[in-house]
Amino acid sequence: MADKREKFGGRLAVILAMAGSAIGLGNIWRFPYMVGEHGGAAFVIVYVIATLLISLPVFLAEVMIGRRSHTNARDAFARLSRQHPFWKTTGYLTILIPTLIACYYSVIGGWSLGYFIQSCSLSLTRMPPENVSRQFGSFVSSAWIPVAMHLVFLGVTVGVVAGGVKSGIEKFSKVSLPVLFVLIVLILAYSVTLPGAGEGVRYLLHPDWSELTPRTFAYAMGQSFYSLSLGMGAIITYGSYVSKKENILATSAGTAVSDLLFAILAGFAIMPAVFAAGIEPGAGPGLIFQSVPYVFARMGATMPVLSAITAILFFLTIIVAAMTSCISLVEVGVSFLMERKGMTRGRACLVLFLVCGGFGVLCSLSFGPLSGVTVAGMSIFDLFDWVCSNILLLLMALLVVLFVGWILPRRVVYDEFTNGGRLRLNHLLFPVFWFLIKWVAPVAVVIIFFTNFIL
Ligand code: PFF
Repeated sequence: MADKREKFGGRLAVILAMAGSAIGLGNIWRFPYMVGEHGGAAFVIVYVIATLLISLPVFLAEVMIGRRSHTNARDAFARLSRQHPFWKTTGYLTILIPTLIACYYSVIGGWSLGYFIQSCSLSLTRMPPENVSRQFGSFVSSAWIPVAMHLVFLGVTVGVVAGGVKSGIEKFSKVSLPVLFVLIVLILAYSVTLPGAGEGVRYLLHPDWSELTPRTFAYAMGQSFYSLSLGMGAIITYGSYVSKKENILATSAGTAVSDLLFAILAGFAIMPAVFAAGIEPGAGPGLIFQSVPYVFARMGATMPVLSAITAILFFLTIIVAAMTSCISLVEVGVSFLMERKGMTRGRACLVLFLVCGGFGVLCSLSFGPLSGVTVAGMSIFDLFDWVCSNILLLLMALLVVLFVGWILPRRVVYDEFTNGGRLRLNHLLFPVFWFLIKWVAPVAVVIIFFTNFIL
């Protein structure tokens, strides 16, 4: 069984696939806003420190669990703990969380597809700017179009996963990641040359040290976790496709750097345009489906061709970024069904399509016909997001760090970190990693958890 498992083709393939998972909506609609609101350049420094000290060790821990166990995320915990009942049960969380996220992540992917089509038909750039906001409301509540778009987006995502690790996921990431970087640089070039864009650049860069409160640290850590796809089984699953010869410190650092770079580029691509149009920046769906389209609609009057092209490129960027992330979410469940239930890849993909498609339809309809259905005051969509991002993700991340720091023997962790002592630099850095994963990371995760609830 172990020999038949697929593998990524090499270091670049690993970094591109993992960066594909990491770079997503989090980089585009949350990071730029957080930077602007929490101290500009000062926040970026905190973010880099949080990533180096906490997220990177957790990332490495996930890759290790995957590579060492050489199996899907659920069985990884069972195998490495020698079938301990607690970890056998816990492992199921790693399958549940990404599957739940894929349900609503693909709904947003569907919206991007809808906006991409509107940009291609020029209806977006010809719209009176004051109608843009209302149009978003009527689009998402219109029931069948967003549902259809969600199913198309999910269908293509699952189609890539069905192609397999090497000829599906790896091939797709090898093309799409470089394309993503080119696209975001093109949009950035358009954005920073608009009249009035300087305000947006200042918004991102002004270092405001007074903003650096304990809360800022917790926000930076939370964002860094989400952005690096931690606590969701995705990196454990991708880790299981990494060869024993690979230096996991180098691949993990490469992924973290690409993710940060893309987030910063996204900030400079979006905020200057938003400021140039004279509107307040925000975060979340409002930023990419209301504020940015407003910019395109406004600029459409004076620069119709350039605005239309940029709108098309912008929504294409979002579709591709969301898709490479969604692929990693779906692959978690697929690898589980293949290895635990003995399904073929095709059949496992079909099951994931039906499950995520079905629940995703409910999430999508919660903006329209099902808007009256609420749990604890939240719509179905918000409930999925809240439970996954604020509770399950952090719970899972805590279990990962406790597992590597306290359950796995130190010898095993050393062996994975240094490839059996062969990597000199990793050998020297091991005590630092060990301290961070054993002591710093668990405390940090607990702090983020309580900050989310109490502050
Ligand atoms: N990292 C993705 C983002 O920043 O949008 C979100 C994500 C994708 C989280 C895949 C988890 C995951 F497994």
